[in-house]
Amino acid sequence: MNSDTPIRPDGKPHWYGRRKTHKLRPRRQQLVDDLLPKLRIADPDSDTPIDLSAAFDNADADVRLEIGFGAGEHLLGAALKDPDINFIGCEPFINGVSALLADLDEHDVTNVRLFDDDARLLLARLPTASISKIYLLFPDPWPKSRHHRRRFVQRETLDTFARLAKDDTEFVFASDHKGYVAWTLAQVLPHPDWTWTARRPDDWCDPPEGWVETRYEAKGRKKGDEPAYLTFQRNPRASNNV
Ligand SMILES: C[S@@+](CC[C@H](N)C(=O)[O-])C[C@H]1O[C@@H](n2cnc3c(N)ncnc32)[C@H](O)[C@@H]1O
Repeated sequence: MNSDTPIRPDGKPHWYGRRKTHKLRPRRQQLVDDLLPKLRIADPDSDTPIDLSAAFDNADADVRLEIGFGAGEHLLGAALKDPDINFIGCEPFINGVSALLADLDEHDVTNVRLFDDDARLLLARLPTASISKIYLLFPDPWPKSRHHRRRFVQRETLDTFARLAKDDTEFVFASDHKGYVAWTLAQVLPHPDWTWTARRPDDWCDPPEGWVETRYEAKGRKKGDEPAYLTFQRNPRASNNV
């Protein structure tokens, strides 16, 4: 959370995004009422630490996290491609959550759990060194300078990601907003726990292997907005510094 993030009376950080646009169709509403409670990794209103081994059928598998999954195209693709990996998807926009629920239901996906609220509330409750990959794909760019503090990538977020990440965990960031890409590099490159994995000058042009295009990405591409893909790796902890 940022030092200037407004705090609500209930002690939680203020969130600037949308929770809902249009009313859900009856089938989607039914999935939100019936399936979401079964897949919810934790009650957003509680503060208790999350026990990941109790959250998934396969307690020993690696856990990957996608923040702000939108309608969940990338998350669904990743979960289908790697059924032996556990995934947590986080998205407060309930129309997007309901779209993913329909896909998870249709494909009988069992390795995904959801958090339908601000990711910062989730991150604070996850165990240290528990996450093996973090995706932040096309986060809201907040283009005006006075809103840059609302961007998800901040020094404090990177510190939290570093706490949650296992050694060598990758943090994958994608955006078609040049200002946000530059901002992210400026935040991550000096950070002591993260290293950009780029090998070639044009490395950022190519999505990571096995990539599934997101809805937002496809929309931008139609308008001619070329995305950048940045992959950072968590530096190994010193043996006495967990
Ligand atoms: C521009 S959309 C991109 C969605 C999706 N990743 C894609 O590429 O299609 C950004 C998403 O981030 C979500 N978001 C914004 N702030 C968030 C937060 N604090 N925690 C979790 N999700 C957040 C929004 O609800 C929105 O769905």
